Amino acid sequence: ARSRRVVPRALDSSSMHAPPTDDVDWDNLGFSCEHVSKTMMFVATATLGADGQTWEWKEEGVGPYGALAMDPSAQCLNYGQSIFEGMKAQRTMEGNLVLFRPSENAKRMRDGAARMSMAPPPEDLFLRGVKATVAANAAFVPPNGKGALYCRPLLLGSGPILGLGPAPSYTFLVYCSPVGSYFKGGQLDPIRLKVEEVEHRAAPGGTGNTKCAGNYSPVLNVQLEAKQRGFNDVLYLDAVSNTYVEEVSSCNIFAVFGNKIVTPSLGTILPGVTRKSIMDLARSKGFEVEEAPLAIDDVLRADEVFTTGTAVVLSPVGYIERGEEGREYQNTEVAMSLYEALTGIQQQTMDDPFGWVVTV
Ligand code: COI
Repeated sequence: ARSRRVVPRALDSSSMHAPPTDDVDWDNLGFSCEHVSKTMMFVATATLGADGQTWEWKEEGVGPYGALAMDPSAQCLNYGQSIFEGMKAQRTMEGNLVLFRPSENAKRMRDGAARMSMAPPPEDLFLRGVKATVAANAAFVPPNGKGALYCRPLLLGSGPILGLGPAPSYTFLVYCSPVGSYFKGGQLDPIRLKVEEVEHRAAPGGTGNTKCAGNYSPVLNVQLEAKQRGFNDVLYLDAVSNTYVEEVSSCNIFAVFGNKIVTPSLGTILPGVTRKSIMDLARSKGFEVEEAPLAIDDVLRADEVFTTGTAVVLSPVGYIERGEEGREYQNTEVAMSLYEALTGIQQQTMDDPFGWVVTV
């Protein structure tokens, strides 16, 4: 049931946090680094303990956002030990600052660290770092409903190494930026996607399910070309048969067929926190939700298509083009109702039956 304010809170933290600064034009936020130089960031480093096996973390805490001093032989610069997360802090109508399922991001970063042979930040360090960053940058959390403070936890193999191997030391940091809509045109403007039929984002056994930096730049060539042609982003197909949709460069994808909602199974795609939450929300609203191979042919016949991600939130898709063929989608009803349900929980204007929201 929808209500204005129903989430009980033991502690009203609003008085502890700064109100939004006057230095930002809150009505015209995009998704950019425009304000990062005014913010604070959290830093911790890991080195191996005397036993040569246990990572010892040293927290430097929160300080001004600024350049990192890095050795040219840093592993991350040479061989790419670099993984990241994306999270959003919101200001509720009561003025509290809240995060959405931060433990899920902590877990995904630890899973990514295991895949990339990096020192995994302990969950309590990860959560402390994110919360400290949000609290220190409270003035940059937009007013309720005007956007979010996007937090970017980064884990870098920052120690030097020349031969191929894992870094001897790691840097975990969290920086942040106030953000509005990810895609140009506004949060709920239906987006235009181009199906990529030649290049692939990920292959079975690869790192498509890891939020590693290396997954993101190989998509830029086709993405930039698609953007020049008026598309918002590119939709990737599976590398084996070029038949099934995988994900968009920046978000996961869902297709609606009557009462059934289908999203590609995990494996080569990013296990999105928003993806997982939307599946739970859709089931709670009575939809049948399936994680299964999803053929592009079926997507082009779907009643509705939408994408999800932390940065993207939930975007209805208005048009998909594959080769010479194009499909316009008129329906956005399911997307809109799930968007309302998700953002209602994230901003605490609705009940949070899953217990997803964490107060900073
Ligand atoms: C996010 O949604 O948080 C991401 O990291 C995607 C990125 C392309 C902005």
